[in-house]
Amino acid sequence: MSEHPIALTINGQAYTGRIEGRLTLADYLRVNAGYTGVHVGCEQGVCGACTVIVDGRAVRSCLMLAVQADGSEVRTVESLAAPDGTLHPVQQAMRDNFGLQCGFCTPGILMTMAVLHDRKEPAGEDEMIAAMSGHICRCTGYQGIRRAIRQLTGSAEPAQEGAH
Ligand code: FES
Ligand code: FES
Repeated sequence: MSEHPIALTINGQAYTGRIEGRLTLADYLRVNAGYTGVHVGCEQGVCGACTVIVDGRAVRSCLMLAVQADGSEVRTVESLAAPDGTLHPVQQAMRDNFGLQCGFCTPGILMTMAVLHDRKEPAGEDEMIAAMSGHICRCTGYQGIRRAIRQLTGSAEPAQEGAH
């Protein structure tokens, strides 16, 4: 099996090495780099669980080869919270609004939300909800996720403690 050199940044840290050309970015992030917050569900670009940020864009890491990320800056869900544990606004909104249950889909959803929220002109409610069509959640019925988006985009007040 032929190996290829790779050099990239993951969550601000430099990684280099030689990898098989067939290795997906998802497997590289999970197995080689240890970022197990990258969840792999369908492995065919449908569920969105494996979404990470590559050079500022939300990408399905099961559909991208690791060698294709050579030279890129990659961010996984592990990079969202501040070093002191302060949650990123998208995490806080999901937490406030019970936007997750088992949490399997959540890292991918958070990364898509983060791209849309952190850009120069943050996405509004409609655009963010439309982006969620690329994420499958088997638990929540999407209502908590919708509430989180409404809070995030300023279309709703934060949920009360204990409200569902
Ligand atoms: S695991 Fe990548 S989209 Fe489902
Ligand atoms: S919280 Fe379980 S799949 Fe979304």
